[in-house]
Amino acid sequence: MSGQPLLHQRGHQVRAFGTLNQFPLGLSHDARMYSCQRLNQALADTQFLYALYKKHHWLMRGATFYQLHLLLDTHAEQQLALVDALAERVQSLGGVAVGDPRHAAEITTIPRPPDGIEEVPAMLSRLLEAHETILVDAHDAAARVATLGDDGTNDLLVSQVIRTGEAQTWFLAEHLVDTPLVRS
Ligand SMILES: [Fe+2]
Repeated sequence: MSGQPLLHQRGHQVRAFGTLNQFPLGLSHDARMYSCQRLNQALADTQFLYALYKKHHWLMRGATFYQLHLLLDTHAEQQLALVDALAERVQSLGGVAVGDPRHAAEITTIPRPPDGIEEVPAMLSRLLEAHETILVDAHDAAARVATLGDDGTNDLLVSQVIRTGEAQTWFLAEHLVDTPLVRS
């Protein structure tokens, strides 16, 4: 009762990754387990897409530096919002969300970029490929969780992950059109 905080506390893990709490959601254990696995994949990949956007936001250069510097940061913020939405969906289904980036690194399928700086078009292409990886997986996951009755996860994947990814892909891809700026 001294008012001294109890520091340096450690405890055993109270619930393992990959396990489920029983919540009364009207969804089967198997449906929720499957959704959590697909959501954690999307979560890990989206964490790395977010990191890729920040890296390229910092390393951007050239005549369109300012525009792309700002655009990539805007996309990063939107991806970070998706990270939170995906993680909280896993928790709301009774699962355990992938949190630590080192854990996410073991799960993600997004290739690791070089530690240095790539050419600007290569950085944009890398982002487009990461988007497509997530989109392909999200389309498949959305269809499968819908057949298991998990409409909420289907909605999150379709209306947030897929729609955001498609819009960001459009904004990036238009920067890779080789078009004259002054003389036609
Ligand atoms: Fe910044």
